[in-house]
Amino acid sequence: DAMRSFIEGLPKTELHLHIEGTLEPELLFALAQRNKIALPYDSVESLRAAYAFTDLQSFLDLYYAGANVLRTEQDFYDMTAAYIAQARADQVRHAEIFFDPQTHTERGIAIEVVFAGIACALRQARDDHGFTSVMIMSFLRHLSEEDAFVTLEQALPLRKDYADLWTGIGLDSSERGNPPEKFQRVFARCRELGFRVVAHAGEEGPAAYVSDALDLLQVERVDHGVCSEEDPALIERLIALRMPLTVCPLSNLKLCVVDDMAQHNLARLLRAGVAVTVNSDDPAYFGGYMNANYLAVASALALSREEIVQLARNGIAASFISVTGKKKLE
Ligand code: HPA
Ligand code: ZN
Repeated sequence: DAMRSFIEGLPKTELHLHIEGTLEPELLFALAQRNKIALPYDSVESLRAAYAFTDLQSFLDLYYAGANVLRTEQDFYDMTAAYIAQARADQVRHAEIFFDPQTHTERGIAIEVVFAGIACALRQARDDHGFTSVMIMSFLRHLSEEDAFVTLEQALPLRKDYADLWTGIGLDSSERGNPPEKFQRVFARCRELGFRVVAHAGEEGPAAYVSDALDLLQVERVDHGVCSEEDPALIERLIALRMPLTVCPLSNLKLCVVDDMAQHNLARLLRAGVAVTVNSDDPAYFGGYMNANYLAVASALALSREEIVQLARNGIAASFISVTGKKKLE
């Protein structure tokens, strides 16, 4: 219909995307075969059928298990190239991509392999198609702050080689019980080093984790943030700051953060003046890339074309690209 073609044609930016969450079952099986890794599923279909989640942790368990097939630079390259093809088909022009080195270094994969494979695909997309991107290295919050510091030390020697891409630091994985304060020191260090910082907060965790991400981590964007509504004063603060929330509608539905898309607070937050954006999070696991996320909210929440355009504009404004880069995307 008309709304579908409008959304499909709209240029977009993606600000909340875990590259490991773009690993489709077909590629996961192909990489398992290439690397001679046995899988506990006998087919792509049976793997996909296992993607029935009840909460964040039930997803994370499969997501980390799936990442085990990633061994070589070529594997990381293939995964990233496949994501870019999907994103370009959805008219995504710019993407800011989370990657979790600890998921890989814990398994004995060198951090250099992770950076090199992802960056090679991103640079190719930039040179061949003008598709721009930012790499956001994320710390796993279920691990210790000490572990995050070790990862930072491992990554810093690579900074000069990836200065064109790696400018961000993020925080993801199991939220409840792993509050922002646990990572206050390492985030302070990252800011001192000149990184742009973001953190997942208020996905499953309380609104207090969102205020703490602002106060203690001094984030420039909040990833998810949908639980902020529990605290009306926080909502006023988000509006006053024009603090971007990178909302992921299909993720929220699949992880039972909302029971029904019609109940999602994205439209209410948007209409209240919060700088909400639409993103796909882990599209291989949650059933859709950018256009599917836009379409799901447009239809369930009866968004107008102006509101769809506002969401896309919010994404440009919230991105980590230069002012001239933003003008080009407008
Ligand atoms: N939340 C927390 N950690 C994650 C997510 C998410 O949505 N996706 C991948 N790691
Ligand atoms: Zn996420």
